[in-house]
Amino acid sequence: MDIESELGLRRSLGRFATGVTVVTCCAPDGRTCGITANSFSSVSLDPPLVLWNIAKVSNSLQAYLDAEHFAIHVLTAGQQDMAEHFARADHTRYDGIEHTISGQNVPILPGVLARFDCRTREIHEGGDHYIIVGEVEAHTAADGAPLLFFGGEYRTS
Ligand SMILES: Cc1cc2nc3c(=O)[nH]c(=O)nc-3n(C[C@H](O)[C@H](O)[C@H](O)COP(=O)(O)O)c2cc1C
Repeated sequence: MDIESELGLRRSLGRFATGVTVVTCCAPDGRTCGITANSFSSVSLDPPLVLWNIAKVSNSLQAYLDAEHFAIHVLTAGQQDMAEHFARADHTRYDGIEHTISGQNVPILPGVLARFDCRTREIHEGGDHYIIVGEVEAHTAADGAPLLFFGGEYRTS
């Protein structure tokens, strides 16, 4: 696809407003991974399934493909800094970021609007991304305003 067509497609896709999540997992060597993602979607209630997409060029791709468990954190309107942090490509992803490690060996971020603790169920190839389907094993929800993404920008309304 030429650059003009890609920009046009990005512009049209950007007209779909989404929330913003951070998806976390641990690599087999114990390295903590976190990635800002707005490709999150619900798939099924019974069984409870959700999905997100990861770019094949992601530095942490292999960790997510190998992970038995991962967590999807839905960010609040006050967590844009966290979204920006986990959208940066670097290898010290949790420097200065408060977190705990769950019993399933997954990094957990506090203060989010919702969290879905998932077991990896299916991985599908989709062009330049992989589609990761997770079975929701536990979830939490809090009250508050969501962080939004629209037209390539963060919004709070
Ligand atoms: C709002 C927003 C949503 C994003 N959604 C995704 C996504 O769904 N999947 C993905 O692979 N990257 C997504 N990205 C890009 C990644 O966050 C970013 O490329 C990644 O953190 C770069 O580091 P890495 O290569 O070490 O993974 C998104 C970025 C932003 C700002």
